[in-house]
Parts: sequence; C-alpha cells; structure tokens
Amino acid sequence: MMKPLNIGIAGFGTVGGGLAEVLRDNADWTKRRAGREVRLKMVCDLDESKKGLIESFGAAYTKSLDDILNDPQIDVAVELIGGTGVAKDFIIKAIKAGKHVVTANKALLAEYGDEIFPLATKAGVYLGFEASVAGGIPLVETIKGALAGNRVEGMLGILNGTANYILTEMTDKGMAFEPALADAQAKGYAEADPTLDVEGGDPAHKLTLLIQLAFGVHYPFEKLPVTGISVVKPIDIGFAREFGYEIKLLAHAKYIDGKIEAGVFPALIPSDYMLAKVKGSFNAVRLEGNAGPVMLMGYGAGDRPTGSAVLADIMSVAKGVPANVFGFEDDVLPEADILNLDDAVSPHYLRFIVPDKTGLLRDIGGVMADHGISIAQAVQKGQSEAPGEGVPLILLTHEAKADDIHRAMDDADSRGLCLERAMHYRIF
Ligand code: HSE
Repeated sequence: MMKPLNIGIAGFGTVGGGLAEVLRDNADWTKRRAGREVRLKMVCDLDESKKGLIESFGAAYTKSLDDILNDPQIDVAVELIGGTGVAKDFIIKAIKAGKHVVTANKALLAEYGDEIFPLATKAGVYLGFEASVAGGIPLVETIKGALAGNRVEGMLGILNGTANYILTEMTDKGMAFEPALADAQAKGYAEADPTLDVEGGDPAHKLTLLIQLAFGVHYPFEKLPVTGISVVKPIDIGFAREFGYEIKLLAHAKYIDGKIEAGVFPALIPSDYMLAKVKGSFNAVRLEGNAGPVMLMGYGAGDRPTGSAVLADIMSVAKGVPANVFGFEDDVLPEADILNLDDAVSPHYLRFIVPDKTGLLRDIGGVMADHGISIAQAVQKGQSEAPGEGVPLILLTHEAKADDIHRAMDDADSRGLCLERAMHYRIF
C-alpha cells in the first residue's frame, strides 16, 4: 500500500466543509478506489471560530497560508478561497513549491488561466478544476476523458443555479425579477452581492473553461458576450410560454467551420426540451457530439456536491493520473477564431409595446419586411385602457441575423412606432 496522500485546504467555507465531510464519510471507499489513504492534514481559514470544527476532522488549524505552502508533507494544495487576489498568489506559490493543486475557482482560471496553466504544466504538477465548472456535475473529466472519442461541436447549458432558481420562480409564480432575487437571497441561494450570478459573469467563467475543454481553443474571457437575467420581464416569460417556450439563462457555444460562436444570455427554448425542464437551482448541459448528444444534469453548487468534485481531483492525484489540463497535447491552446454574435442566425422573439391604434401591425410588419425579416407568428393582445397606454405586440420570426433584428428595433424606434424600446430574445 502506498503512503497516504496529504492535503491542505485553503479556505474553509461551504465547499471546504463539504470536502471534509465527504472525505470523512467516504474514507474507506476513497482508499479502495484511490489505492491509498487521503488525509486532511491542515486547513487554513482566517475565521478562528472554525478551529474546533476543523480539528474535529483530524486536521491542524492555521491562519497562515504559508503553513500549508511550507509543509513538505502536504502533497496537494486545495484552493477554496475564491476570487482572483490571494487565491492566485496561493496557487502560483503552491505550484512553485511542487505541490499539486486542486481548485474550485472558475473566475481565477477563466481570467488568469493562460498565466496559471502553463506554470502547472512546466512544473509537472496536477491542476484539477472539476469543481469549478458546474460543481457536482462531472463535466471537466467527462469532456476530456469519456467523451474524447465524441467530438463536441456545440453546447447549451444552464450553468448558474441562482439565476435558474430566480427564473423558475418568475416563471412558476409570475414574480418580477427583484422580488424573486430577494427570495433567492433570503433562501441562501444568491450571494449578498448577486452580480456574478444574475448578470452572467459566473456562467461566463464556466463557459470559458468549457470552450477550452471541448474545442481545444482559448477564448479570452473578456471577449465573451454576456447578458444577465435582470433584463427579463414577466410579460416575456408569459408570452414565451403561450408560444410553447421557456426563458432560460443559457451558456451557448458552437464550433462552426473552425470558428467559435459563443455567449451567455437569456433565450427561449422549447418547453419540451429537457433543458427547459431543469428547474430551481439545478444545472444542466447538453453537449452536441459528432457521435451523438449527451446531457448532464445535477447540482452546480453546494457543499457536498462541489466537495465531492474536489475530492475526485484529489483522488486522481492519489492514483497518479498524469496532469493534462485540457486533455490536448498542446501546452498552450491556440486562440479561438471568434464569430460575432451579431452575425448569428436564429429565430427570434420580439416584443413591442405599441399604441393601440389602426395600422400599427401593418407598420411594424413593414419594418420587419424592410430588414428582410420573415414573421412566423404574431400576437397582439388586449386593449389599452387609457389613451396613450400601449399594448404588447409579439412577433416570432423565422431565422434572422441578430444584427438585422437590432436594426429593425432601431428603425421602429426612429419611426416612432413604439412606446418603449422593444425587447428581443434568441430562440433555440
Ligand atoms: N453561484 C453559482 C450558482 C455557483 O448559483 O450556480 C458557483 O459558481
């Protein structure tokens, strides 16, 4: 039997606690699978009130990251601090100290991966990040390993549980965005500062990593187009449903003739798609492989699901699985050839608020025709109750270029046909 593998955890929050639990509860199982014992040797956290809890897992407590970095017996440094400051410094120092690194930090890897990944490759240490993309859903190793023979050419995912929870509340209870967000915060789903979740930054970090894993190209995070869910209104969720669609915050990426079309944005998907049935805080991803589609669903966050993903990476180190960050032979991935989302072609949902007067449908139809956009369905409901009050006019288009849709919306504005700026969503 090989000697135990010693780990040191930096940051003992939700995921750190979950990791310690699964490590304790699955100790015999872990040993049997990994062929050696995995030992939690040390935990660093600034909050001294966690000392007792940490020691109850048999680990030494410290407030100094250097204690982990300078302990020659610690084989794996587990970074669960989060953010791109102290965490980055810790990971770089751990790699330089020859330690294997496992992290759940998507923001750091998406924004600074091009600096960190080559350091790990050069040092010959393992850099595991299974937990950083959709928590407990095994996406990273699945794409790199089990799907290596099935070339992934597209993906559509729900990669943020908080946003999906809020949209589910808005859809099922007819709530507006702000109260649904307040509810998510009260239930502990959303952070006190929910910006990364509701404005799409968090799923964009995850998509940046998935693009590298699936397509073998580096798509700079700052170039990824991102729109969050704070723009979504109950009126559009309601009309989308009437047409047989749900609005979801989607992470979309497609490999088209060597180029990558990608972005995070709310969009309509048919209600009978499996993704449309993914409710609440669940995450799910549909991968379009050239040998067939695969769908994965599960918890994208939470203590034990995410902790178990961290543990799986630690067990890879224990088993001596070679370090290979993205599963390609290249040490540095080539830069992605990026397709502009304005040039993307798909059907669209358009909602205008127009004055309730004769000829408006004809005029809006005329604007669409002027921009070469073909209308598939149209609905205009209700009557204005007071002079000057608008009524919604909803159009579903056939395939159209996003840029033409924007121009048509501008045109409707400049011709004074709408009472407010129109809203549009892409339909998948
Ligand atoms: N805050 C994320 C979510 C999980 O709500 O899905 C961590 O990325």
